[in-house]
Amino acid sequence: MNPFEEIESNVRYYCRRWPAVFSSALGSTLVDEYGTEYLDFFAGAGALSYGHNNPALIEVAIEHLRAGKLLHSLDTFTVEKRRFLEAMQRHILAPRQLDMVVQTVGPTGATAVEAALQLAQRITGNRAVVGFAGSYHGMTYRAASISASMAGRKTSAHLKEFVALPFVDHVSEADLELLHQTLLSTIDGEPIGAVIIEPTQGEGGARPFDPLYLRAIRERCSELGILVIADEVQAGVGRTGPFFSFEGSALDPDIICVSKSISGLGLPMALNLVRRSLDTWDPGEFSGTFRGNNLAFATSAAMLETYWADSDLEKNTEHRGRTVRSALDEISNQFGNGRFVVRGNGLLCGLDVGDTQLAADIAQAAFERRLIVETCGAGDTTVKLLPPIVIDEDELANGLARLGDAVAQAHSAR
Ligand SMILES: Cc1ncc(COP(=O)(O)O)c(C=O)c1O
Repeated sequence: MNPFEEIESNVRYYCRRWPAVFSSALGSTLVDEYGTEYLDFFAGAGALSYGHNNPALIEVAIEHLRAGKLLHSLDTFTVEKRRFLEAMQRHILAPRQLDMVVQTVGPTGATAVEAALQLAQRITGNRAVVGFAGSYHGMTYRAASISASMAGRKTSAHLKEFVALPFVDHVSEADLELLHQTLLSTIDGEPIGAVIIEPTQGEGGARPFDPLYLRAIRERCSELGILVIADEVQAGVGRTGPFFSFEGSALDPDIICVSKSISGLGLPMALNLVRRSLDTWDPGEFSGTFRGNNLAFATSAAMLETYWADSDLEKNTEHRGRTVRSALDEISNQFGNGRFVVRGNGLLCGLDVGDTQLAADIAQAAFERRLIVETCGAGDTTVKLLPPIVIDEDELANGLARLGDAVAQAHSAR
């Protein structure tokens, strides 16, 4: 009997692409039950930016468990939460002049998005939401409804008070006019309460928005009293280089959704950063049993202290990102016939090959070379590269070489 096929739901997904049974992992390497090693350029869909079992952070986790510290604490005060909040303030919020409070929301990115939408509605009194084509915000009813690109995954969720604007990589007058008119309009009779945006889209195909467009969103929303929510669940926590992918733009979000890599170890943890003046929740108004994952607070504090006390990691990720994009450019020149497009920032990169089957064949050929990559974007035509941001240079070069071979194989089979 194969328990995965006999007992697990048909909804299982990634295991169909990578049908190995994994048993251990370290850094950028996954090992299956037979000892075969795979290079992981998927990194838990962005939840493992600091690598599998990061040695510095795993020590903190082991020490935490050995010492009999709290694991679960709802939102009571704990030593670990205090240390995490202090690290967040010291290393992330203060240096960026962000006057924001931390709302722990439960274990998933979708919960953070849900909380952000509820707060925006509470503050503005308006339910309607503007989002963007290609966005992905999670699987709760509301988050799925405002996810305008499901990349092959279907959902029955549908929210009436939602409209998706087109993705904008080079802003035009027409884009600005459409934004303006949409924000002024009503959707199903409801005025707009919030704009939610992934400043760099993950599932949408590793696509950064034009920073000038992000500025326009901020300006229009400020004029109209609409809240700006940045979904940094995938692109945040250093994935694109800076801690937040919107840094350097004038987006200045009112609420920032953070999850995936924030624990540093891939533990369930999600939070919203909320502009202090907008923190109008009543005590207990948004709740959740798993808001107090103290193991995750401990490893997250250690991650922030280890990697964000200076700008070394940020610079390193930007440097590694340039290495990835130049390798993708080479692959593109060799095999793309002018049709491949290279996208991304930092280590959130994609190669759009413009063809669903070709992208799937490349991912499959990569797996045969023991490289884990996924496909994403509209029509699943983009091969997405999401290696741990702490990957070393040799492993990165090795993975890129395997990818080059995979593209060559998929290309020659056509
Ligand atoms: C940008 C973004 N927002 C939200 C989510 C949802 O996070 P979760 O799967 O933890 O609910 C994801 C997950 O991929 C995401 O990429």
